[in-house]
Amino acid sequence: MKKTSLYSSRITGTGSVFPKKIMSNDEISKLVDTNNEWILERTGIRERRIAAPGDPHETNSAMSARASLMALDMAGKTAADVDLIVYATCTPDTLVPSASSYLQHLLGAKNAGVMDVNAACSGFLYALTTADMFVRAGQKKCVLVIGAEVLSSYVNWQDRGSCILFGDGAGAVVIERTDYENPSRIYSSHLGADGQFTDLIICPAGGSKQPVTAEVIESAGHKITLKGREVFKVAVKTLADYATEALDSNGFKISDLDWFIPHQANLRIIEAVANRLDFPMSKTLVNIERYGNTSAATIPTMLDEAVRDGRIKKGHLLVMDVFGAGLTYGSVCLRW
Ligand SMILES: CC(C)(COP(=O)(O)OP(=O)(O)OC[C@H]1O[C@@H](n2cnc3c(N)ncnc32)[C@H](O)[C@@H]1OP(=O)(O)O)[C@@H](O)C(=O)NCCC(=O)NCCS
Repeated sequence: MKKTSLYSSRITGTGSVFPKKIMSNDEISKLVDTNNEWILERTGIRERRIAAPGDPHETNSAMSARASLMALDMAGKTAADVDLIVYATCTPDTLVPSASSYLQHLLGAKNAGVMDVNAACSGFLYALTTADMFVRAGQKKCVLVIGAEVLSSYVNWQDRGSCILFGDGAGAVVIERTDYENPSRIYSSHLGADGQFTDLIICPAGGSKQPVTAEVIESAGHKITLKGREVFKVAVKTLADYATEALDSNGFKISDLDWFIPHQANLRIIEAVANRLDFPMSKTLVNIERYGNTSAATIPTMLDEAVRDGRIKKGHLLVMDVFGAGLTYGSVCLRW
């Protein structure tokens, strides 16, 4: 491990919030030609949470605010201590202004600068890395990092190839400045992308290139379209490569790893990656069965669950590993 700065950062608090409504596979099979057995077998998903449209408590920023308060409470901090908010989402409350502006106001985090990061399902690790760099550079001391989505509003509920996969939720972590010598810290980040695959996961309309029109709405052009089989293949290889890079660059072996936290897109992807890494599923954190793919929220919500139920303990070595639309990729290695 090369010493690259005076400071490091470490995660001192986590929080997560999901909408109240549970949508089962049986419920989806009333909308499209599918069934519980197919979804469970091909994806590992049993149910997902869906935000209630129009409910002010279940907007992207409102769920993030509650997750943030949990994380701040765990860290022993208040909103006034936060000097930066980095918010990963591709489904913000509004395109302008940013989700982080709403969150800052909801929390009363008056001392925080704010920014959104859009790297789709990889967003949380891009946001965490950005926050980590501000702390390492000595610019910020206490940063709130969010991964939150209301994907249900972008799902085409008539497309059985994609609507079965996604859910809503919000996760938050607090990162704080620590000594570079503290073993409990973020060791390294590894971010990448391959823009030749932009068409594999895309909402084609709704941006400046193709604004929403009556025709777009009619053809669901503003909703998520997916080439799932192609994404699957790229995802398995890339996740395995990025996890390996995270370990190798710090001189760790796979046997040093206590917990692997992969993006929750499909249980079969996760199992194939664990298999490639020769790492046991018993030490791979998975909650896709209950929540589906919540995009930028999968990693921080999974992390919060495992911290709160005591699976992740002080001193544990973790690798978090993601891929998403773009295609974007990333991994982070840290010791808890
Ligand atoms: C989407 C995904 C679940 C599809 O699973 P798959 O095993 O690859 O299935 P395929 O697309 O090869 O389809 C197999 C068959 O099942 C059918 N099928 C697809 N969705 C179905 C559904 N919900 N219910 C029943 N049958 C379905 C297909 O039409 C196809 O039928 P055919 O053989 O008669 O043509 C899977 O590819 C996946 O998870 N991909 C990655 C997901 C992703 O991109 N997530 C976002 C990125 S973070």
